[in-house]
Amino acid sequence: MYDKEVGRYWEENAEAWTKLSRMGYDVYRDLFNTPAFLSILPDIKGLRGLDIGCGEGYNTRKLAELGAEMTAVDIAPTFIRYASETENENPMGIRYLVSSGTKLPFGDESFDFATAFMSLMDMASPDLAIEEAYRVLKPAGFFQFSICHPCTDTPHRKWVDNEEGNHIALEIGGYFEGCKGRVEAWIFSQTPPELRANYKEFLMPRFTLTLSKWFNLLIGSSFVIEYVQEPTAPDEAIQKAPHLADTRLIPHFLHIRCRKR
Ligand SMILES: C[S@@+](CC[C@H](N)C(=O)[O-])C[C@H]1O[C@@H](n2cnc3c(N)ncnc32)[C@H](O)[C@@H]1O
Repeated sequence: MYDKEVGRYWEENAEAWTKLSRMGYDVYRDLFNTPAFLSILPDIKGLRGLDIGCGEGYNTRKLAELGAEMTAVDIAPTFIRYASETENENPMGIRYLVSSGTKLPFGDESFDFATAFMSLMDMASPDLAIEEAYRVLKPAGFFQFSICHPCTDTPHRKWVDNEEGNHIALEIGGYFEGCKGRVEAWIFSQTPPELRANYKEFLMPRFTLTLSKWFNLLIGSSFVIEYVQEPTAPDEAIQKAPHLADTRLIPHFLHIRCRKR
């Protein structure tokens, strides 16, 4: 499966994804994953940044709030339309463009930093996206991204529960085979039943790489790995959304910051 086909799936998902996430049902992102990502972000005030695979712009706006001059791209036009409408209503100086992260419409050394929140593992060619991020960064610029944790986001993945029905472990398999574009139906787990009837499940082509392949892609592009994080939800987040206790059982996400030599 190639970029264009992946883009068509995301274009189909974009309307429901935007509406449901704006209603607050992307709980992992809002309460845990994005706060953890931002907690390890260097100071970006006054820097030129690029957000790759920005979706409807939630995280791009967070970066703009921190004082960066942001540009953001996504492959799905509907996401960019929603992000741009929000920018027009409440201008933060963000420039949004429809583009694949694998062929960025920017010159070499255009940005001080780049981010990719939960998008690289959804791309058919993350190797090209990493090379492009490297190309558009100025020397010593950094690239920080989050992905589903490669060790637990595997083709076979099944929770193991105790007698009370609480998760106690995760069964995984197929780690070395990977998914190679297998399409899975999925929706934010906290979406209430009455809304599930109105919104179709997202159809997501999945591409999984082993942990070593991710690291070797970065090393092969000459990025220097600077910081690695496997976040767990803080107490306050678990109080608001008890299912986030899962994040203390197994790693859900992997955050990496690397720097251009
Ligand atoms: C899980 S969503 C994350 C969206 C957003 N970054 C967030 O955290 O809310 C993955 C995003 O990657 C985008 N995407 C997939 N393939 C892409 C590509 N080749 N280039 C740019 N964006 C892509 C999708 O359209 C989608 O918006």
